Amino acid sequence: MTKQRDTLVAWLNDAYAMERNLHQSLQQQIARAEDYPAIKAQLQAHLAQTRDHENIVQECLESLGERASTTKGLTGAAAGFASAMMNSLADDSIVKNLLTNYSMEHLEIASYRSLIEAANLLGEQQVATACTAILKQEQDMAAWIERELPHIIRTHLAQPV
Ligand SMILES: [Fe+2]
Repeated sequence: MTKQRDTLVAWLNDAYAMERNLHQSLQQQIARAEDYPAIKAQLQAHLAQTRDHENIVQECLESLGERASTTKGLTGAAAGFASAMMNSLADDSIVKNLLTNYSMEHLEIASYRSLIEAANLLGEQQVATACTAILKQEQDMAAWIERELPHIIRTHLAQPV
């Protein structure tokens, strides 16, 4: 059981790192979204949720007698993709940032699904319930991006060069 519990703790720490990275990224994007009030408002709303997610994941770790690790960065393929997009100074950055956010939300969705499965298997009902609530908000954010992306792309392409 110890190894399984360690895995749950490691995955919670991965989720914590993802939320902290997204927190920073959203702050940067909000600062650059002055010309796009609807996007800015949605990013601000998701930033507030992301801060909550950080705290909730931290509480999950504490409920297991652990402390959140702040040493981890983004993991996997999304890391390079995200940082390349974030550093882009191209004028299509509003579109590329949303593409990155879309991929990040799906990484979060997959992570929380895994956490819910593991927590249920280990009888950690509090963790499973917390992650289920977070999962719903990540799905809502991904759905918002999916819904808005065609409009944003059309608006971007209609702009004079
Ligand atoms: Fe989140």
